[in-house]
Amino acid sequence: MNDKVIILIGFMGAGKSSVAKWLGQTLQRQVLSTDGLIEQKTRLSIRDIFEQQGEVVFRKLENEVLLEIKDQRNIVLDCGGGIVTDQNNLNILKNMGLVFYLSAKPETILVRVKKSNHRPLLNVGDPLKVIKDKLNERDIFYKQGQEIFTDGKTIAEIGEEILERYAECK
Ligand code: S3P
Repeated sequence: MNDKVIILIGFMGAGKSSVAKWLGQTLQRQVLSTDGLIEQKTRLSIRDIFEQQGEVVFRKLENEVLLEIKDQRNIVLDCGGGIVTDQNNLNILKNMGLVFYLSAKPETILVRVKKSNHRPLLNVGDPLKVIKDKLNERDIFYKQGQEIFTDGKTIAEIGEEILERYAECK
């Protein structure tokens, strides 16, 4: 197996973190998450960064942490859902390894994120509308990864699908 980074992109609730954890355990690779790196760097939660400093500052931090890890190999990278809306970030990710887009229907995403309150962008009156609008906006970016549709699949099934495709792309 090669040492290219396995990169997971996609909307909140697509299952990136769970699948990244599964891949890390299965491949014995370190898992990094851009949100986690930002929280370590700032010592603030993502929610606090949004509340206290705003989305623009958060997006800048996403770019900074990506530049800090761009030369890493042999890891699994779990990306925050909006990081790819800056094409520069997406280009960095493509240079690091293979980019997989975990997709899901908006209704499925809503069910999956309902339980969490740490996602500031969805703490709004009509989260389904926000999900649909943002998916439309981000489609052009997400589709630059290899799409893996996640509805109705277990974490292990999604992980296996990624590994099969990863093995094909040398
Ligand atoms: C965001 C997704 C979140 C987090 C932040 C913004 C987005 O990450 O980075 O709340 O813009 O889609 P997850 O996709 O890991 O939930």
